[in-house]
Amino acid sequence: MGLTILSHPLLQHKLTMLRDKQTGVKEFREIVSEIAMLMCYEVTRDLPLEDVTVETPLGDAEAKVISGKKLAFAPILRAGLGMVDGMLHLVPNAKVAHIGLYRDPETLLPVKYYCKMPADISERDVIILDPMLATGGSACAAARFLKDYGARSLKLLCILAAPQGVEKMREEHRDVDVFACCLDAGLDSHAYIVPGLGDAGDRIFGTK
Ligand code: PRP
Ligand code: URA
Repeated sequence: MGLTILSHPLLQHKLTMLRDKQTGVKEFREIVSEIAMLMCYEVTRDLPLEDVTVETPLGDAEAKVISGKKLAFAPILRAGLGMVDGMLHLVPNAKVAHIGLYRDPETLLPVKYYCKMPADISERDVIILDPMLATGGSACAAARFLKDYGARSLKLLCILAAPQGVEKMREEHRDVDVFACCLDAGLDSHAYIVPGLGDAGDRIFGTK
């Protein structure tokens, strides 16, 4: 389905803590950030390396550095913001493209309210960030905005995915690889992921 499940035990353990309804706002926010950092480590495995010579205190060493690949992280507001710090912790020079979308509660369609892209987005590998891929409407819209701004290389990182969202991404953006910690069973009548973890934005920002 174009989906990679990141099954590292630390990710699975931390995801269980997020699912737990007893987990409070502070801890939830911290865990989202930690998960993002671990996911970043996993999805940057394919960054190209080049050879360099570095002088150690004892002599020259033939070594490796990341080869000129430039990254941008694109959080879908609000909940995607919770993943930005964890990502930047590992890749501090990445730029950030903010995409403001909310899901209309009646139509469930994404409504755009903000968009600010780095000027050189077309030269960067872009990683879209959103903890939840439910119907897929928001992620598909975000990928479309990014492509309209010239982005050519996209990945999507979500903590939880529903089959409907993965399928919609596959139909509309087959070129975008999707990474998640778990594929849940489906959606409820309000298009929440079940069993899921609830409303990610509300749990990160304490708005309910
Ligand atoms: C949530 C979530 C995704 C979207 C997923 O955001 O963070 O962006 O819903 O649903 P979809 O796949 O059906 O589009 P929400 O619209 O609740 O906004 P928020 O982040 O501001 O809470
Ligand atoms: N948005 C959320 O925050 N949670 C869901 O389960 C679905 C959409």
